[in-house]
Order: sequence, then C-alpha cells, then structure tokens
Amino acid sequence: MNQEIVEGLKNWFVRHVRRFRSGNPNWQRNIALKEDHTKRVCKEILDIGKKLGLSSKDLRLAEIIALFHDIGRFEQYARYRTFVDHHSVDHAELGIKILQKNGVLNRLDQSIRNLILRTILHHNRPTLPEQETETCLFFTKLLRDADKLDIWRVVTDYYRHKDEKRNSAIELGLPDTPGISHDVYDDLIQGRIVDMTHLKNLNDFKLLQVGWIYDINFAPTFQSVRNRDYLGMIRDVLPKSEKIERIFSVVESYLDDQIRGGKGE
Ligand SMILES: [Fe+2]
Repeated sequence: MNQEIVEGLKNWFVRHVRRFRSGNPNWQRNIALKEDHTKRVCKEILDIGKKLGLSSKDLRLAEIIALFHDIGRFEQYARYRTFVDHHSVDHAELGIKILQKNGVLNRLDQSIRNLILRTILHHNRPTLPEQETETCLFFTKLLRDADKLDIWRVVTDYYRHKDEKRNSAIELGLPDTPGISHDVYDDLIQGRIVDMTHLKNLNDFKLLQVGWIYDINFAPTFQSVRNRDYLGMIRDVLPKSEKIERIFSVVESYLDDQIRGGKGE
C-alpha cells in the first residue's frame, strides 16, 4: 500500500462521513464524536506503532485499519440513533459490509484486504481472537490498544464536564445509582476485564473502563495510560469506598508491573 492509496482511502472516509452530517445538534454531535474519535485513533496507532519500531509500510497499514475500524458507526447511528451494539447492530460487522459494498479496498491485494477486514471484525470483541495469523493478531492488538487510549480520553473528558453535556449515547442509558455491583468488583479483583452482562449502573460502567487495563497489549500503551492518568481521573468520579480502594490498589499495581516488566519506550 503506497501513500497515494492511503490518501485515496482517507478521501473516501471524508466523503462517506459527510453524508451523515445533520442540522440536528444532538445528531451532529454524535457523528462528530465518532469522526473525531477516528482521527485520534489514527494518531494513537501511529504513535504506538512508531514506539514499537514498525516499518513505514506497516505504519500505513495500521493507519488504514484505524481509519476504518469504526466506519460502521455512522450508518449505525443513522439507522438506530444509538451506538449500543446490542440494541442495534454489531458496528464492526456493519462496517465490513459497508467497505465491501462500496469496494473501498478493491485496489489492495486480497491478503491485505482480508487482514484489514478481519482486524476490524476483532476490534470490538470482548477478547482477542484465538485462531488468527500472527500478523492479524498483532494488528488487532495494536488497534485495540489505540482504540482504548482514545475511548479513555473521551470518557474521562466527558466525566469531567458532565454537567455541561450529559450524553446517553456515551452512558449506555445506565442509571446513576449508588454503589457498585459485586460481580464487577469480583472481575476486577481477579484480574479480569469486566463482563458486560455484570453492568447495572453508571459506577459499574466506569469500572468496566478501569478494567480495560487488563486488555492492553503493548508497553507504550501502558506508559501512556500512566502519563495521562486515565485511571486516576476515573477514580475521581467514583464514590469513595473500601471496595473501590481495593480495586484501584489491584489495578494500579498491575499497571506498575506492566510498566516495570515492559520493554517498549
Ligand atoms: Fe469500534
């Protein structure tokens, strides 16, 4: 994939997103949220990729994967007015259909095209795929790390300015009730990502985002989580309780271990 092809794909993305613009402020805000997210995931993936020493060819591929990973989001919102997959459609699968239907990747070799589509398909799964090629697994890990770095940015930004712009598209429509669910606590203490079915309120949802740390793959990503203090910012918007303190002590020592034991940076 040369730079000219990359530019062509970026142009297609811009034209595609333009079709979903709207004069309705709430609608427009949600479309812009995903458009901006995409741009920042492209930056994050290049940043991690460079720190890992990828070749320019692999960096171009990584950027395109990031560019298209949420391409299904725009159509999903237009059709269902939500970003909640289980209330609408799997946005990764929808994205792949859109890319195929429009022949967006037709100029690429079949093997690269498949790699991009499979990586997109894996990006929103609860866990990494088990039966995949080494290359696809690598790019899937890269995308998932870059994606999470930016979602942490989106949610921490949102929590800090919540009074100004409450957005149910971000909060998944969960109630803002006190306390946390025991199953969520259990997941995190045992070093597992939080099972979506355990979520009962907004605190659980914030803890789900804390648990993403267990799903991070590369040392530079762990380092960025530390530098940007994402976990601290989520902790600030959770109630003060013994359980929550215990969760953060487990999660923070996990992060410490990963940074100490990691190789990158
Ligand atoms: Fe996504």
